[in-house]
Amino acid sequence: MSQHRRISAPKGTRDVLPAEHLVRSRILETAKRVFDEAAFGQITTPTFEDTELFSRGVGTSTDIVRKEMYTFDDAGGRSLTLRPEGTAAVARAYVQHGMSKLPQPVKLWYVAPMFRHEAPQSGRYREHWQVGAEAIGSQDPLLDAESIAVLAELYRRLEVPDVRLRIGSMGDEESRGPYRALLLEYLEARRTDLPEDAIARMSQNPLRLFDHKDRDVIAVMAEAPLLADHLGPAASEHQGRVFEALLALGVDYEVDPRLVRGLDYYTHTVFEFTCDRLGAQSGIGGGGRYDRLVADLGGPDSPGVGFGSGIERITLALGDFDPSPAVDCYVAIPDDGLRAELLAFVTDLRRSGLRVETDLRGRSMKAMMRHAASLGARWVVIVGPQEHEEGVASVRDMESGEQRAVPLARVAEVLG
Ligand code: HAM
Repeated sequence: MSQHRRISAPKGTRDVLPAEHLVRSRILETAKRVFDEAAFGQITTPTFEDTELFSRGVGTSTDIVRKEMYTFDDAGGRSLTLRPEGTAAVARAYVQHGMSKLPQPVKLWYVAPMFRHEAPQSGRYREHWQVGAEAIGSQDPLLDAESIAVLAELYRRLEVPDVRLRIGSMGDEESRGPYRALLLEYLEARRTDLPEDAIARMSQNPLRLFDHKDRDVIAVMAEAPLLADHLGPAASEHQGRVFEALLALGVDYEVDPRLVRGLDYYTHTVFEFTCDRLGAQSGIGGGGRYDRLVADLGGPDSPGVGFGSGIERITLALGDFDPSPAVDCYVAIPDDGLRAELLAFVTDLRRSGLRVETDLRGRSMKAMMRHAASLGARWVVIVGPQEHEEGVASVRDMESGEQRAVPLARVAEVLG
């Protein structure tokens, strides 16, 4: 036994092993196709950014900025933060590269790891991956509907089961100011019913009390005035047009006047897709409109809308994966003297597009056959000393059990 301490992956992080990667590839290939079809271009932003981007973009009252960011000073004394979410970074890139001069809206999608120091549990990690999209430079409610429909289409093509969509509105500044005052007045009157952390949260952002998990808070919030009942005419109209467009697109949704999202940049539409199979962490994807974000980051007045969906959660929702065979063909060389020479034959077969494995561990013929079966090989190509001398291989079809001699130069063609 080794005397060294065994090192595990840090708490809340996980390794993605080959079987899971097969599912992940399918998710990413499907996402790429859906985004391509809807005219989104791909963007990759750095894994870390200036800390101020997130404190200003995501908001200082959010859990993400208050307690979940991985922030460090680099050797040059700059405060940097591992990206906790993608929207602020894409908005930063939009401003930095003068994208407001391009035809609007600019539509971008990404796949990237996100870092949040949360309490880990199934479906909630300290490093998770998101596939997401942002469309910046238009206030048209049809763009909200299109974003939602693109994400719904991704889930549809992936056949994610039991997905539901909830939509709410955060209103505009005109609606939110007076509503906030009304909500605070209500909460002040019920102050004695609230636990201390809810009172602290209340002064920072009273709307966040709608997603508080405490039973007393839930009871207080059940009777609280709703923003949905206090939307100004512009916000109401925006919401109505989003609903109309979703209807026309055939996207089912439920209106949820209590829907709040954990990021401060939202205005107007907010939405969340949930999947009942996910248990406590049922949010499979979410997003909304952010009309002030780009301007808050020093850019022009460019309203936008987007979403992010957790790849681990999509994978969990898809359930157990059926590992497909790892190889098409197994080359068995039951003669040690020939193994090195025949590696070139293995390479040729691989170049023909077949997935090929051979023994690289000095197995006996019997063990090689077991190895081939465990990899799910459809064919075993045996090249022993006699075959080698005759310039042929014995090709065995593992399904039918038939075996026949094929000239070495023709094996790829026969199996292809
Ligand atoms: P979010 O709701 O914080 O939104 O995250 C989006 C999705 O990422 C969630 O619905 C969930 O599937 C996944 N997710 C979040 N946190 C974790 C975690 N700790 N472990 C595993 N999966 C997680 C955003 O990040 C916004 N940037 C979305 C957006 C884009 N809004 C507008 N544009």
